[in-house]
Amino acid sequence: MFSTIYGVDLSGESFAEQLSVCCFLSIALMTTPVLSTHRHVSEKAARFTESVIREMTREALKHGAVNLSQGFPDFPAPEDIKRAAQEAIGRDVNQYAITWGAPDFRRAIAEKTKWHLGLEVDPETEITVTCGSTEAMIAAMMATVDPGEEVVIFEPFYENYAPDAILSDARPRYVSLHTPDWSFDKEELRAAFNERTKAIIICNPNNPTGKVFTREELEFIAKLCIEHDALCFTDEIYEHIIYPREGREVKHISMAQIEGMRERTVVVNSMSKTYSVTGWRVGYAIAPPVITNAIRKVHDFLTVGAAAPLQAAGSYALRLPPEYYEELGREYERRRAMLLPALDAAGFRAFAPDGAYYIMTDISSFGFADDVEFTRFLVREIGVACVPGSSFYSTDASGENGGRSQVRFCFCKQDRTLEQAAEKLMRLKTTLR
Ligand SMILES: Cc1ncc(COP(=O)(O)O)c(C=O)c1O
Repeated sequence: MFSTIYGVDLSGESFAEQLSVCCFLSIALMTTPVLSTHRHVSEKAARFTESVIREMTREALKHGAVNLSQGFPDFPAPEDIKRAAQEAIGRDVNQYAITWGAPDFRRAIAEKTKWHLGLEVDPETEITVTCGSTEAMIAAMMATVDPGEEVVIFEPFYENYAPDAILSDARPRYVSLHTPDWSFDKEELRAAFNERTKAIIICNPNNPTGKVFTREELEFIAKLCIEHDALCFTDEIYEHIIYPREGREVKHISMAQIEGMRERTVVVNSMSKTYSVTGWRVGYAIAPPVITNAIRKVHDFLTVGAAAPLQAAGSYALRLPPEYYEELGREYERRRAMLLPALDAAGFRAFAPDGAYYIMTDISSFGFADDVEFTRFLVREIGVACVPGSSFYSTDASGENGGRSQVRFCFCKQDRTLEQAAEKLMRLKTTLR
């Protein structure tokens, strides 16, 4: 009789079944407001899924698993930085700050950028304070990219960049980073640039791979940007989390430091990772005045501004001495040294990161159909949450098997959490035997 009714597939059901489903749906639709997903959801919003990373945190909570999925610390934020925020609220810094950022916070950002990167930045015309680097990136893209223009993105990529491209009407062009060292093929990158290229996004140090771009790589990218009059959006929120390596210097170099790039680079940064305050949602974009003007307009109408008392605490935090950052780096190096051998011992092929606080691994040896199946098994049966590799690749990615043989762990966690994870991961050996 019916093949579908109200979108429910009834082919294959008996006539009596079809009739009863039809009656049930008719009554249900008469008594509940009709919400047509086709009419109410935009074509853009329908084109991406919710964040897999944040979904994994909810899965970890549901199964009581050790959460090594989403990159947020489970240890306390520094006492003095918290006190600065409390004092700001006490001083009644509780109303809107200037939309593009409290003047003193912007001055603190300029001072820190000067000592850390050696770059002169005008706080009046070149800095926009945003709600996390998440907003800085999308505001920068919406402020500069026109519909149909292309944005080059290295793959695997931090999962926000694909929805950022959709929301800003950009067409993404993916270029692979290859294991084991996450290098890229220069000719593949060159071929991705054309007359429609508006920008390239780089994440340096890189999430999820831990890659830290070398000066030579940055200069090659810069040359392409200059040749094609393209911009660079550079996400540098892990700039202080770098691991020394024997035989090769690993150093954070900002794309804005490369000759000819300052005037075509938007540096995206944030308090989240450097000061262990991911929930504060305070970030910033540094860009030349014309671009900053456009970013500020988009930012104003997206969010008005970041939390005023937390910007005041930011003025304190960004003026901390270099020793603070050295200690941060050392602590993460210690945590990395806890998780890397634990992953090796459990049977993963771990790609040691040069920066950031994630470890990408290869799971081929475990014999699962794909990364999602493995991740589900790990959270439910072993009690450790990680992120399936495919969430860092585009849906049609073929390079590196589209992430289907990879998963990512984070190590921005207390020793106790990492020890628990290591113990549980060892159970893989016995459970899968
Ligand atoms: C590369 C990268 N960019 C941006 C973000 C989000 O940062 P924020 O908290 O500043 O919005 C993250 C968070 O994990 C990240 O890894």
